[in-house]
Amino acid sequence: MGSFTTSSILLLFLFSSAVTSFPLSTNSRWIVDDKGRRVKLACVNWASHMEPVLAEGLSKQPMDTIAKRIVSMGFNCVRFTWPLYLITNDTLASLTVRQSFQRLNLLESIAGIEANNPSIIDVPLIKAFQTVVSSLGENKVMVILDNHISKPGWCCSNLDDNGFFGDKYFDPDLWITGLTQMATLFNNVTNVVGMSLRNEPIGPKQNVNDWYKYMPKAAEAVHKANPIVLVILYGLSPGLSEAKPHKVIYHPLTGLCIRRKSLAHPLRLGPCTDSYPWSYTPHKTLLVQGTQFCLQTDASGTSVKLGIFCTGSNSKWEMISDSKMHLSAKLRDGKSICLDVVSDNTIIANRCKCISKDKTCDPWSQWFKLVDSTRSSTGVQRSLSQPLPGKGLAPNHLID
Ligand SMILES: *[C@@H]1O[C@H](CO)[C@@H](O)[C@H](O)[C@H]1NC(C)=O
Ligand SMILES: *[C@@H]1O[C@H](CO)[C@@H](O)[C@H](O)[C@H]1NC(C)=O
Repeated sequence: MGSFTTSSILLLFLFSSAVTSFPLSTNSRWIVDDKGRRVKLACVNWASHMEPVLAEGLSKQPMDTIAKRIVSMGFNCVRFTWPLYLITNDTLASLTVRQSFQRLNLLESIAGIEANNPSIIDVPLIKAFQTVVSSLGENKVMVILDNHISKPGWCCSNLDDNGFFGDKYFDPDLWITGLTQMATLFNNVTNVVGMSLRNEPIGPKQNVNDWYKYMPKAAEAVHKANPIVLVILYGLSPGLSEAKPHKVIYHPLTGLCIRRKSLAHPLRLGPCTDSYPWSYTPHKTLLVQGTQFCLQTDASGTSVKLGIFCTGSNSKWEMISDSKMHLSAKLRDGKSICLDVVSDNTIIANRCKCISKDKTCDPWSQWFKLVDSTRSSTGVQRSLSQPLPGKGLAPNHLID
């Protein structure tokens, strides 16, 4: 504590333009500005969810200096974390910065804040939070308000009672109320471009049903209170199951995965909870874990299948194209071919679309991602995006 901790760096990788005109919105998978130009968010994490409930580092440097440093390092955005109780607990929110550090006996930090950021030492915590956002705004830094935890403190563990709906410190109704208040407070604050609803839901209570019950509700509430912020959602965390680490073959357009079915059936998309556990070998073969069966293709326009002769080019899958989202193999004649999906969700091999710079073509059906998983049955990966319909709802692509 007391130092500027960047516990993780978050990159939302999109394309930039020199002057962004707000508000941002989504256009299918892109984030675009008010003029429809794609925007690249390069965000650094700045923690304000710890016990003192003040942005870390303000005892060391003026906030303006920190903001300028962030810009000089090439970032244009801060993922600014906050604990739910900052907005739902008035007693906490109205503590002054000085009082907050006094109650924790962090007297040295008080002296540091007085020296470096005297304007906030005697203002309430919630005001101090807003002041940091303004300072970032003055430096043209965009902000994503990230609800990190409920009770201020170090985040996150399976057992901190802050992890999932129904935990001691995670009442879903209070959370939605708090998100709504936060969205309202920052309505019309131009540089607040997004809100992420909750960092990495985690813990023994996590389950898909509650995720689907509360996340969309919260997203709608935020969107209603503040229609111009992008709403960013996290999937569930891996790590609770006994399964060996494996890959799933995820299809972002539908949110489905290549599913497990009897070998007699053609391969189809289905819920990721029913996914085959794949391993991706150094020879670029996709094997069903624990078996000799590999994914392979015989001809363009036909279903892909599981085979046992896995050494040919028709069983070697590579992520190709600029987006690295096409999963491609080569037929015996050397022609490249890509995984694709037809309307009944059957997986076929097809001519690769949009590999050249043809802006008009639509590659979505051919986009796949190999995603790491350790889940055996229920659950979706944290790194999977969960887009919801509607303007202002953006999938997240997080690296952490
Ligand atoms: C609200 O915050 C105050 C000050 O930190 C704390 O003493 C109190 O327990 C909190 N109340 C709730 C309901 O969390
Ligand atoms: C935000 O701005 C709009 C348009 O200027 C205004 O109607 C609305 O009341 C403002 N909202 C808040 C919370 O200030």
